[in-house]
Amino acid sequence: ALSVKEMESRILSIKKKLGSKLFIPGHHYQKDEVIQFADSTGDSLQLAQLSAANKEAEHIVFCGVHFMAETADMLTTKQQHVYLPDMRAGCSMADMADIYQTEQAWPILQELFGDTIIPLTYVNSTAAIKAFTGRHGGACVTSSNAKELVQWAFTQKQRIFFLPDQHLGRNTAYDLGIPLENMAVWNPHKNLLETKEPLENIQVILWKGHCSVHEGFTVQHTEVIRKEHPTMRIIVHPECSREVVAAADDAGSTKYIIDTINRAPSGSAWAIGTEMNLVNRIIKQHPDKHIVSLNENFCPCLTMNRIDLPHLLWSLESIEQGQPHNRIQVDEHTTAEALSSLERMLARG
Ligand code: 13P
Ligand code: SF4
Repeated sequence: ALSVKEMESRILSIKKKLGSKLFIPGHHYQKDEVIQFADSTGDSLQLAQLSAANKEAEHIVFCGVHFMAETADMLTTKQQHVYLPDMRAGCSMADMADIYQTEQAWPILQELFGDTIIPLTYVNSTAAIKAFTGRHGGACVTSSNAKELVQWAFTQKQRIFFLPDQHLGRNTAYDLGIPLENMAVWNPHKNLLETKEPLENIQVILWKGHCSVHEGFTVQHTEVIRKEHPTMRIIVHPECSREVVAAADDAGSTKYIIDTINRAPSGSAWAIGTEMNLVNRIIKQHPDKHIVSLNENFCPCLTMNRIDLPHLLWSLESIEQGQPHNRIQVDEHTTAEALSSLERMLARG
């Protein structure tokens, strides 16, 4: 087996050889061993925008998870091929809404509410769900632009069907002044709308999905911080539950969290509620600030972490040898429908 140094120098030499024919986008949650080779890093929105803008690279080796690579494939040309260094790098939240369940839910919701609903889909979803969204006039959202897109959706219809993350949907709608009782949860396992309210009051229907990484942050964690470090500010990702976001001082996407800490004065103290690799990187980049993870056990995204140095090298070597592994290719029909929902997002986000 190659040593770490040998793997790193092989990756560097392949990158040099392929030049601008190769593009490596890296999500903020990726490991340092991978992120050091990323040509661009970003949150989900930035990586979608960068993929759409790049017309030059023939090979895009996506260091992130499966739904991000699918989105990159849909936003790039046919000549540009997208690869995922490890096919096991999925997203448990995206897997919580499958197209079969969604197609079952829609007619029931139509029956309950008539033609008053528009779907809004977090990019953390399969291409098939994005296509469903496009087909019904809806848009995708990311944690950076969810607010704008929810506002837009209410100009289109009276109600929003938000999937698959109930927490991002609830937090965003709550911030826009929608009362919690006007939000109902769609349970895809029971094909049932969970609410005690009269149906005419329901404005937001939240798919019962969540991110298991961000559910690792609890109100108890915020209480410990308040007790032990009373001056510390708490900032969390909106994939955390409503209770946790309410107990925190601020919430926003990974980019928002990074920008907030960058702007914070030297000596300030922060507890961050998001994925471990990013929190550790922020801690290292700001030795002048007191930064901790909101959950002292940290919270890794295990599927993101499947992309590592050996997988990155394996993927790059396969491209160098002309027999690329793990191409992510969304079929044309799905792409056409999904693109309409992605384009509605990119036009407004
Ligand atoms: P953002 O990159 O949009 O902040 O989303 C975080 C995330 O969970 C990606 O899977
Ligand atoms: Fe999915 Fe959560 Fe991991 Fe993001 S952090 S990829 S939402 S499981």
